[in-house]
Amino acid sequence: MNELKHLLSPITIKKTEIPNRVVMPPMGTGLCNPDGTVNDALLAYMNRQASGGAGLIISEITAVHPSGLVSPFEVGAYDDKFIPGLKKFAEAAHAGGGKAVMQLHHGGRESAYLLKKGEAIGPSAVPSLVYRQEPREMTLEDIQEIITSFGSAAVRAMEAGFDGVEIHGAHGYLLTQFLSAISNKRQDQYGGSFANRARFVVEVLREVRVQVGEDTPILLRISAEEFIKNGYTVEDVQTIVPDLVEAGADVIHASIGTHGSPGGITSAPPEYDTGFNVWRAKKLKEVVSVPVIAVGRFNDPLGADDVIACGDADLVAFGRQQLCDPDYLIKARQGRNRDIRICIACNQGCIEREMLEAKSVRCAINPETGQELVYPRKPAAETRNVWIVGAGPAGLTAAYEANRLGHQVTLFEKEQMPGGNLLYACKAPFKQIYGDWIQWLIDQVKKAGIEIQTGTCVTDQMLDEAAPDAVIVATGGEKIVPPIQGIDLPIVCDAWQILGETVAPQKNIAVIGAGLIGMETATFLTARGSAVTLIDQLPKSPVTKFTSHGYGLHKRLRGDDCRFMFGTALQRIQEDSVTVITQGEENTLSSLDQVVLAVGMNPRDDLKSKLKENEIRHVIVGDALQVRRIMEATEEGARAAWEL
Ligand SMILES: Cc1cc2nc3c(=O)[nH]c(=O)nc-3n(C[C@H](O)[C@H](O)[C@H](O)COP(=O)(O)OP(=O)(O)OC[C@H]3O[C@@H](n4cnc5c(N)ncnc54)[C@H](O)[C@@H]3O)c2cc1C
Ligand SMILES: Cc1cc2nc3c(=O)[nH]c(=O)nc-3n(C[C@H](O)[C@H](O)[C@H](O)COP(=O)(O)O)c2cc1C
Repeated sequence: MNELKHLLSPITIKKTEIPNRVVMPPMGTGLCNPDGTVNDALLAYMNRQASGGAGLIISEITAVHPSGLVSPFEVGAYDDKFIPGLKKFAEAAHAGGGKAVMQLHHGGRESAYLLKKGEAIGPSAVPSLVYRQEPREMTLEDIQEIITSFGSAAVRAMEAGFDGVEIHGAHGYLLTQFLSAISNKRQDQYGGSFANRARFVVEVLREVRVQVGEDTPILLRISAEEFIKNGYTVEDVQTIVPDLVEAGADVIHASIGTHGSPGGITSAPPEYDTGFNVWRAKKLKEVVSVPVIAVGRFNDPLGADDVIACGDADLVAFGRQQLCDPDYLIKARQGRNRDIRICIACNQGCIEREMLEAKSVRCAINPETGQELVYPRKPAAETRNVWIVGAGPAGLTAAYEANRLGHQVTLFEKEQMPGGNLLYACKAPFKQIYGDWIQWLIDQVKKAGIEIQTGTCVTDQMLDEAAPDAVIVATGGEKIVPPIQGIDLPIVCDAWQILGETVAPQKNIAVIGAGLIGMETATFLTARGSAVTLIDQLPKSPVTKFTSHGYGLHKRLRGDDCRFMFGTALQRIQEDSVTVITQGEENTLSSLDQVVLAVGMNPRDDLKSKLKENEIRHVIVGDALQVRRIMEATEEGARAAWEL
């Protein structure tokens, strides 16, 4: 048992006792109906999340006014028609015995949805840094209307049964747009000095306080630092927080970043340590006497306990960790820390899936999240003898899920070590956490009693001889070897040999292929002191800088002076050089010590025709179906098991 004395101690805000110091911070899901009403998928999600026992559950962004919607799939609180659904939502958020607070939100100019329709508003007509379009500047009447709408929405939250409200003043949405000198160019009482720019936030707080009364907890979420060139700093925020508390804030929730902050700092990638943002919470705590919530890559309840013990913050929020394993607190309480599925901060299933792919929330390594309605909880009606071929993310997930549902699982892996491509993916800088996750999954599979038959390559002959009821083909991809002159020379190796450390890196290296694997390999090499030229026939890398992972990769390679040659095709390889063609012109890169191939993978074809021929029920999942990412591998692996 872990004592977690500080984390599990209650705290009282106004007259509301919060049973422990663990906060589920607001996380938009995109699960509601397209008119902002609550539906069963959202309720099932919230119920499951709340069941983990966080003391304070803050619901996702909830629109106070239609002019502030960032998506049609944003929960609404701008009309009484939403109250019946919000009642059920509040009930679900109370499922684990914690208190529930609704987050009140207006997106201002950071709404691609309203910008497209020409309907977005903001403090000034300054274009969004992300969407590059400008909103209409708010009139004084608009300002008054939005302030009033925060108050009315707060009243609806209370009618629905929430215990309090959180005003979203962070992350570049309307309130931050007023606070920021970058987006607020107003000449009136709402612009100019920082105190003037904070006036809108102060008036929102005052209005909400008037509407909800003295005893209702009001939280204010604020980005303690804008984290953008010429943005406001934590020292600036220190000058206004006392006024914000005076205006009605009972708790300060110290987040970070704005739309356009580089590298997705708000939901930070693994380059940032767990709890990296606590020092800003501490800075704000220095100037106010109300409780402060710390947030930012927390995944360890023991570490969070220390944060509270040493007085740096009063409560700690676990965002993506909650999505990744809603039971993390239960497990920590029981001393089962090793069973906690630790968030890898990849953002693939959660925030980036929502923002970049306009899809609802998931988790790349927890197939239950966002799918609570379809996630099977009871054993399968008919159990099957299933073979799972391949112990990468897809096969391991399929094995775990199939076993959980009562099927009889045999899991094969042709290599000596299970883990698939994750054994290589975890080798680049800051990706050890991916290796920790795959090891966790291997351990969980073994703990569930599944034997992984390593060193066993499933063959057509084995399929002829045995007759499993079903086969899940999770055999992954096969490296592409381009038919190029010189490919067999000793100077040539591939990314897997480098990352797997079976071939030692040399000094002067050409990496062929600037996709994810090529870029990861290049950072691995530059981190070891090699000089790398990355060559790709495409005009630019397919790895986008819009993801936090891609941003970090590009930044590191630029910082390491990696040379990029795009629009350049490899022609042939010589003993210590390569010949390439750029825009029709042939060039030779000489004095090379090594040529590393990273030109991609194709789905592995083995077994597929035999399974068809023998009419064995089967499903192909993950990279074996189409070479993609962890998200698809785990999702398809799980679904295959659910649908056996
Ligand atoms: C260097 C590198 C970095 C990457 N970085 C990322 C990243 O940051 N984010 C991300 O989302 N994705 C990343 N990927 C991609 C990701 O690793 C894959 O999408 C994922 O591993 C696919 O999972 P899978 O289970 O389908 O296949 P794999 O992981 O390839 O696993 C397939 C397994 O099947 C085994 N096998 C094959 N044939 C047989 C057989 N006949 N019998 C028994 N076993 C067999 C193989 O040995 C292998 O272990 C990266 C990949 C690489 C190589
Ligand atoms: C899927 C997702 C949705 C989010 N939606 C919101 C939101 O609705 N309101 C908000 O204030 N922050 C939102 N955030 C930010 C989180 O509340 C949190 O501050 C951030 O993820 C950092 O915490 P973590 O490192 O523990 O994940 C969201 C984050 C994620 C991952």
